[in-house]
Order: sequence, then structure tokens, then C-alpha cells
Amino acid sequence: MVVGCGAVATTFMTGVLMARKGLAKPVGSMTQYDKIRVGKGADKEYLSYSEIVSLTPLKDIVFGTWDVYPQNAYQAAMYAEVLKAKDIEPVRDELEVIKPMKAAFDKNYAKRLDGDNVKDCKTRWEMVEALREDIRRFKQEKGCSRIVVLWAASTEIYVPVNEHVHSKLSDLEAAMKADDREHIAPSMCYAYAALVEGAPFIMGAPNTTVDIPAMWELAEKTRMPIAGKDFKTGQTLVKSGFAPIISTRCLGLEGWFSTNILGNRDGLVLDEPANFHTKEVSKLSTLETILKADKQPELYSDYYHKVRINYYPPRNDNKESWDNIDIFGWMGYPMQIKINFLCRDSILAAPVCLDLCLLSDLAARAGRYGIQRFLSFFLKSPMHDYTQGEEAVNHLYQQYTMLKNAIREMGEYEPDEEMD
Ligand SMILES: NC(=O)c1ccc[n+]([C@@H]2O[C@H](COP(=O)([O-])OP(=O)(O)OC[C@H]3O[C@@H](n4cnc5c(N)ncnc54)[C@H](O)[C@@H]3O)[C@@H](O)[C@H]2O)c1
Repeated sequence: MVVGCGAVATTFMTGVLMARKGLAKPVGSMTQYDKIRVGKGADKEYLSYSEIVSLTPLKDIVFGTWDVYPQNAYQAAMYAEVLKAKDIEPVRDELEVIKPMKAAFDKNYAKRLDGDNVKDCKTRWEMVEALREDIRRFKQEKGCSRIVVLWAASTEIYVPVNEHVHSKLSDLEAAMKADDREHIAPSMCYAYAALVEGAPFIMGAPNTTVDIPAMWELAEKTRMPIAGKDFKTGQTLVKSGFAPIISTRCLGLEGWFSTNILGNRDGLVLDEPANFHTKEVSKLSTLETILKADKQPELYSDYYHKVRINYYPPRNDNKESWDNIDIFGWMGYPMQIKINFLCRDSILAAPVCLDLCLLSDLAARAGRYGIQRFLSFFLKSPMHDYTQGEEAVNHLYQQYTMLKNAIREMGEYEPDEEMD
């Protein structure tokens, strides 16, 4: 069940429906393409994920959604203009029956949205109850044995962690009942509803929703996996893969300036400073754990890291990102690296949605609950227990090792860090 029926959600749904008809290929999806080595030496072999663990096949997936706008998934996919009509029409009938349920929404959290397909709830607690009812009804009507809830809705305004509300589950519940709209984002109501209904919850935007101790407590209590935050797709994927080149080669960093232009509805929402701030915090966190001043003070102290997102309608979903990286080498001599990625936002996000859903469902069946660190590979700002001083792992290749080892373990193979 996907929260938000926008560009990412409809590209994800359309791609899955097309792929299972054999009309498109799910390129970029680790669960559909990647092969992991199991065994060592003479015993080593390379197996796909579904040969190692029992993954839900694409043909068994049923989609549901919520959105502030009432357009069905076919109309929303056409509106998003990510995919060409020829790649949508063959699954039109299946997309048309995916009609958004009324959203749990508060305009103060995304001022630029004006849809009216919204639940009429007096309190945040009523939102939770209405969403629980939606999940139960959907599960029963569609005959689903398991549910995963994925947030692919807009970025909400930044909700800083408040220790009186977000530390303990009892405080969070009290705040929902007291209708504390300042500290309880609508996304928290979706997450709460999902977890108590026995569904893993994945946060694809940078919202702090499940990145608070009270939600970790709920995930433990309900024994459900949670993952987040913010899909790692374009610029940050490049950053988390490129920064290790600088650190591995012991080059210094003076500054890293990242800018983007994009023109879709996501860009429109992020044009609002309070919403952009949520994204900025998420995007800035990547470098700090890869290029670490405490380990290499002469190379990584005081570098200037700046991230900008500019709303530019002509580009729609075809985002362009520029990175200017000022590095220094032998005897401190400066050099520059420029990276210009002309990507397609939702084309990169869709396979990440699929992998996160399938792997969260797998984790739930394997009895893994709470923060799913092995999914950090797919996320821009991976969740970690910051109350215990734990650091997030942002280094793409370390994340890949964590991913592979979790799959090996769930498939009852030995985890290891051998070179492939
Ligand atoms: N595309 C990428 O590469 C990428 C990467 C990382 C994160 N994201 C995040 O994914 C999310 C989706 O991106 P998109 O391009 O599909 O945006 P979009 O604007 O096309 O779609 C988001 C949809 O969510 C709906 N929505 C907003 N609040 C809602 C609520 N409370 N309940 C239900 N629906 C709600 C909106 O009406 C909209 O239709 C954004 O938060 C974006 O920041 C995208």
C-alpha cells in the first residue's frame, strides 16, 4: 500500500505491472537482477536473491494507495509524464482500479498541495483509526496475506525530534490523542497504523516519521520492520559511491557543492523552504560519515558542503544535478571534479521502491524487527540509533556488504566480507 499516488508511486506500479506481463524490464532492481556470491573457494557460486531467500514474486503483488488528489493510478501516471503512453496503456485497466483512498493530510505539512481527497478527522488519533480501517479493509477485499506500507508521498515540513513527545511510545500516543498537530505529522499516523496492523513501514521521503525512539519502541512491540529515510536515487547515490574514492585514496576535501533543477510536483513542494529544510538535512548527512574529520583531521576538517534544489518546471521529472567537488592533493595543491547527472528521478526511485517492499516483507517473515540497517543501501539518510551514539553507514560499498550479508543470513549461508 503506497502513500501518495504521484510520479514515483505510479512509475513503480506501472513498471511492476508491465514487468510481470513481460512487457518491460525491471532494470535497476537488486532483487530482480543482482547475484550474490555464497560459499568460498571451490564451493563458491553466484545466486540471485530469490534463489537464496523466498521473495514474493511480482505476480503476487496487489497495489493500494492514498492520495490528496482523487485521480486513479492511470490518470496520475499520465499526469506525471514520467512514462510514455505506450508504456502505460498496456496496463491501463489494472491501473484504473487503483483508486486513492482519502489521505490523512494536514495542509500545514505541505502548503503547496490543494487536493480535497482528504479524510475528515478531528484528531491525529482519528487519523490513525481511519487508516487502520483502510488497511484492514484493503487486506480483506483484495485477499492479501501480508501488507507493506511504503511512503512515496510528498516531503513534509521538518519536524525536529522533541524529547517530550517522540521519545516514548506512551507520550507519542498521548500526543496523538491530544491532537498535538505540531509534533505529530500525518506520516506518523500512517506509520503507527501500519505497524499495529502488522505491516512493515518504509519512509521514502526525508520525513523524521519513524526516525524517533517512540516508533522504534512500537516496531519492537509489534515485531515489525521499519526502514528509512529518503530513497537514495540520483545525486546522493553518486555521492555515496564517489566520496569513497576520495577517502580511499587519502585525498583532501575543501568543499562539495551540489545543486539540482527539477520541475515535478516533488520540486514544487520542495520549493517551500520548510519542506526543503527536511530534504537538506537528509542530503547533507551523507558525507560526514564517509569523509570523517575525527579520523583524518588534515584531510576532512572544515570542508564546505552545500546542497540546493531549484524548482524549474520545464524539466519536469528529468532532474539535472551538478556536483562541484574541490579536492586537494600532494602538498595541498587544489583540483576540481565536476559531475553532471542528467537523470530521471522516478525511473531511479521505482526499483528502490520495489526492493524496499520485497525486502521489508522478507525481513518481517524472517523475524527481523525494528530499524532495518541492511536496507541502508537504498536510503539517503539511513536510520540508526542516535540515542546510543551509533553512526549511520553511508558508504555505498559498506552498505552493499551489509545488504549481501543480511540476504546470506536469511538464506542460512555464512555472512562474510570476502572480495567477490
Ligand atoms: N524520485 C526520487 O528520486 C526521490 C528520491 C528520494 C525521495 N523521493 C521522495 O519521494 C516522494 C514522492 O516523490 P514524487 O516525485 O512521486 O512526488 P509527487 O509530488 O509526484 O507525489 C507525491 C504525492 O503524495 C501526495 N501526498 C502528499 N501528502 C500526502 C498524504 N499525507 N497522504 C497521501 N498522499 C499525500 C501528493 O498529493 C502527491 O500526489 C517525495 O517525498 C520525494 O521527496 C523521491
